[in-house]
Amino acid sequence: MSSELWTAVDGYISDLLVSQDPMLEAALEASHAAGLPPINVAPNQGKLLHLLARALGAHNILEVGTLGGYSTIWLARALDEGGRLVTLELESRHADVAQANFDRAGLADRVILRRGPAVDSLAELVSEGAGPFDLVFIDADKPSNPEYFEWALRLTRPGSVILVDNVIRDGAVIDAGAQDPAVRGTRRLNELMAADPRVSATEVQTVGSKGYDGFALALVLASEPA
Ligand code: SAH
Ligand code: DHB
Ligand code: MG
Repeated sequence: MSSELWTAVDGYISDLLVSQDPMLEAALEASHAAGLPPINVAPNQGKLLHLLARALGAHNILEVGTLGGYSTIWLARALDEGGRLVTLELESRHADVAQANFDRAGLADRVILRRGPAVDSLAELVSEGAGPFDLVFIDADKPSNPEYFEWALRLTRPGSVILVDNVIRDGAVIDAGAQDPAVRGTRRLNELMAADPRVSATEVQTVGSKGYDGFALALVLASEPA
């Protein structure tokens, strides 16, 4: 098994099932032209996010980690009339590209981009009484995954879904002695999800154009006690 084959199969899947969308293509082109890292979700993963949001009937979506807004556009396109998506981004260069991509895609009225460290924005959202969000997609700096998960729980309701990208990272996640802060953050997230009676969670390994990785899905079962 080779990553070339995984990439070829991702191409096969996307050619067959993921229709070309000029605004998504333009978002990727603008991100590339601006020199943003090519770490957006793959097209078939973007469509998975979109279909999950639609299946949930999501009206309020929260995303942690915008980059150029590729996953954001997939998710925002799933919103019903009057739905809103809040996306959080630290790097102003990334946020500038993303905002232009939202404007071009006609999504500026329903996508709210908050700049700055996500932990600050998440605390603000809680103090503003924002949410509950029907779907949270966590895809920013991996060492902070445990914190993002805790904030997500405060911003969701029973029935909400929390998704976390990149929880496998070439299998590094099973190394209990890992020193890499990203791996440690993800392992801590996994322990939190396993121990928390407010969620029921699982993870699925993936291969594809983004290598060997995976995602976590947590269903929120009950609100945080007051
Ligand atoms: N969800 C995007 C990819 C996000 S890449 C997509 O699939 O299209 C991760 C992003 O998280 C980067 O843009 C990075 O700048 C941002 N990020 C990293 N640390 C952050 C922090 N502390 N707060 C908010 N965003 C952060
Ligand atoms: C990286 C981050 C991501 O969110 C991703 O999907 C792939 C790679 C990274 O930081 O390398
Ligand atoms: Mg990711």
